[in-house]
Formats: sequence, C-alpha cells, structure tokens
Amino acid sequence: MSVNQRLIIGISGASGVIYGVRALDACRELGVESHLVATKAAEMTLSYETALKPSELPDRADYAYKLPDVGAPIASGSFRTLGMLIAPCSVRTMSEIATGVTSSLLTRAADVVLKERRRLVLMVRETPFHLGHLRTMTQLAEMGAVIMPPLPAFYAHPGSLADMVDQSVGRALDLFGLDWTPTRRWGEDLEQGRRPAAKRPRGDA
Ligand SMILES: Cc1cc2nc3c(=O)[nH]c(=O)nc-3n(C[C@H](O)[C@H](O)[C@H](O)COP(=O)(O)O)c2cc1C
Repeated sequence: MSVNQRLIIGISGASGVIYGVRALDACRELGVESHLVATKAAEMTLSYETALKPSELPDRADYAYKLPDVGAPIASGSFRTLGMLIAPCSVRTMSEIATGVTSSLLTRAADVVLKERRRLVLMVRETPFHLGHLRTMTQLAEMGAVIMPPLPAFYAHPGSLADMVDQSVGRALDLFGLDWTPTRRWGEDLEQGRRPAAKRPRGDA
C-alpha cells in the first residue's frame, strides 16, 4: 500500500523555535504529512520568541503528539517516514539522543529513525560549543545523524530574518529530497553563482 510522504518534526527548547514553525509550514506547502512533537522548553521559547501561543502550534501540523506519548505511531519503526528533522535542537535533546536514553516521544522517535537507518537532521543551536558538545555531535554523526546548525547563507543575500530562516529550513529539507520553493540556489536563483556555459569547439555535434 502506498503511503503519503511523512516527516517527523521535533521542536526542542533551543533558541530559534521559528525554524520548527517554518518547517511545519513548508511541509504543508509541499503536501508532506507532518508529525509534530515539541518539548515543554520549546513551548517556552515559542512564547518568548514569537507571537504564537503553545496551543496554536499543533494547528500547523497534520498530526501533533504529546511529549510523554511513547505509544504514538512515530515511536515505532514500522510507521514509515522520510525521517525526522529537529528544529531547533537543544544540547539537552541532542545529548539524550546520543546516549540512547529515550525518555520522551521526541527522543524515542529520533532513536527509531536512527535504528531504521532513516534520515535524522539535528539543527543544533548553541554557541560557543565546549568539547563535550563537540564530542556528542561527533558521536551522533558516527551514528548516522546529520548535524546541521542553522547558520545563515550570506551568499543568498537574505533581505530579512524570515529569508534567513527559510533558507536554512529549505536546506534542511533538501536533506530529505524535498524541494521547497523559497530555497535560493547557487547556479539557479542567484546571479553570482552563474557561469557562462562552456563553449563547444566548432564542428562538434
Ligand atoms: C529563551 C531560551 C533560549 C534558550 N536557548 C537555548 C539554546 O540556544 N540552546 C540550548 O541548547 N538550550 C537553550 N535553552 C535552554 C533549554 O531550553 C534547556 O536546556 C531545556 O532543558 C531544553 O529542554 P528540551 O531539550 O527538552 O527542549 C534556552 C532556554 C530559553 C528559555
């Protein structure tokens, strides 16, 4: 039986909750079924950093689960998904995933994605990093996760904070094979990235 494309979106309590919100919006625009799980700290950052209320977050997803609900579909590897994007990913959540301590649905879902050899992308947000953070990120990369701190692409000439956020979200979605329209691409949308096509020698067919 064919199933819709599904993506798990985890939102944890690092600064930049808007990355997760926009990832949900992108899924909706792309027709990808979104499965959301957010932490308590993410609800705090949502209130601090945006005009949204925590009760409004689930409305942006197709399915939203409570953090303790380890019986949700996304807690099982038999539930097929493209993988999971955690945007943003706090150091606490990252560390829990690295150790395999899956005390919530968010970290259980991430663990399942890793064990099923599906794509796990962590938009880790902290700065500066100490050696423990760096070692944890190395460990996760060795386990198959993609570590993707949401860093701005200045070459895309973002005109606003919203442009910067969407570019990072778009590049994260690229890792799942999803092409979201706002993503600005070198060699395609950006003039500076274009090179004149190489001329063929005369007489070439
Ligand atoms: C406004 C605000 C910003 C925060 N920013 C970060 C951050 O950028 N990175 C981080 O790892 N933790 C950050 N924290 C701390 C986390 O929210 C805290 O460690 C929390 O326990 C994470 O829990 P969670 O992983 O379950 O979401 C921030 C907290 C607040 C209130």
